[in-house]
Amino acid sequence: MNDNLHQLRCFGCGARIAGPDALPNFRCAQCGDLFEVEYPGWTLRQGTNRPNPGALKWLWRERRCSSEALDQSGVWRFRELLPILENYGNAITLREGNTPLYALTRAARVLGIDQLFAKHQGMNPTGSFKDTGMTAALSVAKERGFEWVACASTGNTSAAMAAYAARAGLRSLVLIPEGKIAWGKLSQAMDYGAVTCQLKTDFDGCVKVLAEIVREEPIYLLNSVNPYRLEGQKTPAFEIAEALEWTVPDHLIVPGGNLANSSALGKGFRELRELGLVARMPRISVIQAEGANPLVRSFATSHGSELEPVEAHTRASAIRIGNPASWRKAVRVIQDTDGWCLDVTETEIAIAKAELGAEGLGCEPASAVTLAGLKKLRADGKVASGETVVLVLTGHTLKDADYTIDFHRGTLLKEEEIAGHETEVDGLRRNAFAVDASPAAVLAAMKGNAG
Ligand code: F0G
Repeated sequence: MNDNLHQLRCFGCGARIAGPDALPNFRCAQCGDLFEVEYPGWTLRQGTNRPNPGALKWLWRERRCSSEALDQSGVWRFRELLPILENYGNAITLREGNTPLYALTRAARVLGIDQLFAKHQGMNPTGSFKDTGMTAALSVAKERGFEWVACASTGNTSAAMAAYAARAGLRSLVLIPEGKIAWGKLSQAMDYGAVTCQLKTDFDGCVKVLAEIVREEPIYLLNSVNPYRLEGQKTPAFEIAEALEWTVPDHLIVPGGNLANSSALGKGFRELRELGLVARMPRISVIQAEGANPLVRSFATSHGSELEPVEAHTRASAIRIGNPASWRKAVRVIQDTDGWCLDVTETEIAIAKAELGAEGLGCEPASAVTLAGLKKLRADGKVASGETVVLVLTGHTLKDADYTIDFHRGTLLKEEEIAGHETEVDGLRRNAFAVDASPAAVLAAMKGNAG
């Protein structure tokens, strides 16, 4: 391994180990906490392996014109900042990353914010941000000679893992909660050839079962406790900074489930600042669904020092998680950047999703918590009109088509749930009609919808 370049540091007790020495569950043998990848060459020996900011910015942009697979990946084109492989020939890429940063003009106008963007991670090869982490960690699995990889998932991780495993020629095992993930995601795991087991439990229950399996069998765990996942998932921070000409937004808003993504993006921006590529960090806020809000509760009861698991309920099935693994890392990111952690209701999520859809930027429900959260923060005076805000949209709208159809047919929410929100969703909610096969009926529907 590139041990001179990277090592694992325990987030809890600070113990350092070489990457291959990690236990199969990626927990510290001394204190049980998670690991973070660190690069001693950048910080311990100032200057030795420290990358040159100007040269890197030029190189990364230049690679976008290259025909090499690795350069075309929005993860590996930043490989100087994730030297986790012995040999880059082992990298498994589907040309992930390089996702668009869209201006949200309509939402910006309604909210009175000058600069509002959506970083659409749903535009990745399997339709979610998980691809950026999977290319990194799956490549490590391949390089270390594993034949099997596995994850527990609310759907997107399993879709991404199955695809990258298939590309690498590895077998993959998926544990998902029966009946609790969106069909699109389940179909992807099957399509990519994963052994797909639906368990009669929730996501947190799947995590427990898998922990026992990887203890006994030589299977590489690809849940986000695997610190290499976060190395890939930090790269959208680089892309955002690059797209903004190496400035950082004032505020980044991220959905919170297992809480790895907020941690990874925080790490990405922190490293950019430490290496002198940007001058400061954005404020990073995490938004949870009201029925799956253990981190919000943790801040309310203990300022983020204890986390009590909850039984999670939300139609945003991707973030139906009651016992998030990376909560301590997320607490640090929120506290270090003066961010907020709040929750939003099912109605707020559904409306925000429809509003994003109406800008031509569909996303899955879990992603829409970001806009719903921003609306609350703005109403509370926590976001000023002159700020640059970026919402991280984590998944593609086609991941959970049932949700969208239910909303627009008017069956997702009851009338009393939507009461008070009508003006914001006028014309957005009821825009699907079953009508007679006649021009008059179609024109009536058009007028009804418009008026
Ligand atoms: N958004 C989507 C679309 C997700 O799939 C997830 C997590 C999140 C947000 C939350 O990210 O867990 O890093 O805080 N999905 C996982 C999965 C857990 O199994 O696909 P997080």
